[in-house]
Amino acid sequence: MRIEVLLVPVQKPRLDFYDLVVVIDTLRATTVISKALESGAMGVYPVRSISEARKIKGMVPSTILAGERKAFRIEGFDLGNSPSEFSPEKVSGKNVILTTTNGTKAVREFEKYGQVVAMALANLKAVVRYSDKFKNILVVCSGSHGEVSLEDTYTAGRYISFFEMPALNDGGIVALSLSKKDPVEILKSAHHGRYLSENGMEEDLEAAVVERDVIPILKEDSMNLKFFGGVK
Ligand code: MLT
Repeated sequence: MRIEVLLVPVQKPRLDFYDLVVVIDTLRATTVISKALESGAMGVYPVRSISEARKIKGMVPSTILAGERKAFRIEGFDLGNSPSEFSPEKVSGKNVILTTTNGTKAVREFEKYGQVVAMALANLKAVVRYSDKFKNILVVCSGSHGEVSLEDTYTAGRYISFFEMPALNDGGIVALSLSKKDPVEILKSAHHGRYLSENGMEEDLEAAVVERDVIPILKEDSMNLKFFGGVK
């Protein structure tokens, strides 16, 4: 097994195609995607922009709009990007159209490199289980505005630590070197973790370490729109 880790989504992958592309945005897009699917959402549509989200709302049945800019709910949207908002009462049986600053953009940017799954600390073990059969894996850390983020790098390292001696690029070696640290300490000391706490969203750090047994796999609907569906 070979795992290539991109610490920021502006890096170029070495290959044109991988068996699996694992996209990470631990705080908070991929945590939210896992939570929404676990809560019974039919699908989560990751989109790049607010206007695209509004456009898709008119095309997909039973939709709710969710997402953030600067971590706050977008005006006129039903939900923001806090995991606690994606309860079964709110999302069960619904299609969630999600747009976030970094995470949903990274998903759409890297879908051309292979089958995408969304991973956070929450569903790390489920994605590890799913990855076992693949040889060439690309791990994309969404980072923050083009910069490395501690929590995504750590999540990548924890993921790698479950496999026996995979071949790694230097990004993978850096990530693995963090993997023995305490998750809560990482989330609290990370720049975006501190930003969320300072803005009244500290509980989202706790929600990021709640285990969720779900593998969000990017698929295509009948209108060729991309959505995450969950597989256990
Ligand atoms: C992102 O995609 O940048 C994040 O999920 C931001 C956040 O909501 O905290």
